[in-house]
Amino acid sequence: MARPRVVAGMGMEKASRSGGQARQLRMRWRKGAVRRCILLLGMGAALCACGQRDAFNHATDATPHQRELERAFAICAGCHDTRADLGHRFGPNLHGVIGRRAGSAPGYAYSEAMKSSGIVWNAQTLDAFLASPQKQVPGTRMLNATSDPQRRQAVIEYLSTQK
Ligand code: HEC
Repeated sequence: MARPRVVAGMGMEKASRSGGQARQLRMRWRKGAVRRCILLLGMGAALCACGQRDAFNHATDATPHQRELERAFAICAGCHDTRADLGHRFGPNLHGVIGRRAGSAPGYAYSEAMKSSGIVWNAQTLDAFLASPQKQVPGTRMLNATSDPQRRQAVIEYLSTQK
């Protein structure tokens, strides 16, 4: 007979304790919510601050098509900048490359192969070079080939907007 009472007693104790825990949890959740709000506000402020620029440092009002071209160029951007004021990286700056003689950007140490290639960059010469840099300019230091013709097209269109 004593046994059920103990059990009931334990049950009561448990119930009230978990009631307390629930209250605590609610409190903690509320504090967490405040913190989450502050975090969101902070992130919003940061977004506004770096605001109108994206990873390429271009205006964020770019059209979806422009963004697609930028994405196609992203792999090249690891080695090439296209903004005139940014100078050369591992590869030469490609600002205004279309119409330029290969290996002629001032201040960049091209390979002999590139300097003496005699190529002038236009949609055709770029397409051939990008498909197989080593074949078009044997001995070039650019090794990165782009086998997908659509991607080459997008990259060339992107470069034609960088002048
Ligand atoms: C891993 C680095 C790297 C990547 C990635 C790369 N390039 Fe290059 N690129 C170079 C280097 C280095 C040169 C200079 C080659 C030389 O002097 O022989 C070069 C040269 C060029 C040139 C000749 C520029 C001139 O002034 O004559 C063009 C055009 C070019 N790259 C376009 C591209 C494009 C477009 C892509 C993306 C599809 C790309 N590159 C990806 C490193 C790279």
